[in-house]
Amino acid sequence: MGPPPRHIAIIMDGNGRWAQQRGKPRAYGHKVGAERVKGIIERAEQLGVEIVTLYAFSEENFERPSTEIAVLMELFTLHLMRERDDLMRRNVRFRSIGARHTLPRRLRKVIEQIETETGGNSGLTINLALAYGGRSEILEATRKLCHDVARGALAPDGIDAALLGAGMYTHGMPEPDLMIRTSGERRISNFLLWQAAEAELEFTPTLWPDYSQGEFEATVKRFQERSKERSDARARPL
Ligand code: FPP
Repeated sequence: MGPPPRHIAIIMDGNGRWAQQRGKPRAYGHKVGAERVKGIIERAEQLGVEIVTLYAFSEENFERPSTEIAVLMELFTLHLMRERDDLMRRNVRFRSIGARHTLPRRLRKVIEQIETETGGNSGLTINLALAYGGRSEILEATRKLCHDVARGALAPDGIDAALLGAGMYTHGMPEPDLMIRTSGERRISNFLLWQAAEAELEFTPTLWPDYSQGEFEATVKRFQERSKERSDARARPL
């Protein structure tokens, strides 16, 4: 088997449908979905993954009813507060990516505290994508370079992929080599548009609250088998 993916990106989708199927409010699906996160992260650690980036709230999610947004923001805040000590104990480095200024103040504060506390840890890195949009990220990075050009600090021809990439939230990290989406949707929905250029995509019909450690592990193992096949094929004489 080949090595595990270094960086896995996950689109955790299907909480609402999962709840609706059980005649429960969508908020209940988010609550159960949030409980799933920890087990998947633990399994990622065990499998030797270095970075997990979780799509928890997109820019587009701000179009949802305000009550659902409030439930989600509260859920993120409470979970982060609850997991804070455990993240330290497990040597996890926590980061959040996205338009942080658009998040509620209390959530921003918790994020900042945990980022500072865990900043020196050397184990698994978790990027929590909150108020995140891939196009906005690329636009923002482009805008910064345009300012540099306008003030004469950069020539237009000096712009290359490395320079633009340096403006992304995940700068300095390996790019995701595997992106997983649950719930049967086969789209990447504005997630890590720049970074996922070379990522393998895996779509599963399982709704996020049902997504198990076993299914996650099987997906990672399939990735490892394919990467072994790819490296064998490269090594074969033509
Ligand atoms: C998509 O399901 C899911 C979300 C918008 C929220 C994802 C958040 C969590 C799983 C909680 C994460 C919590 C922490 C602490 C990281 P959906 O509502 O779009 O489902 P649907 O497509 O079935 O309507």
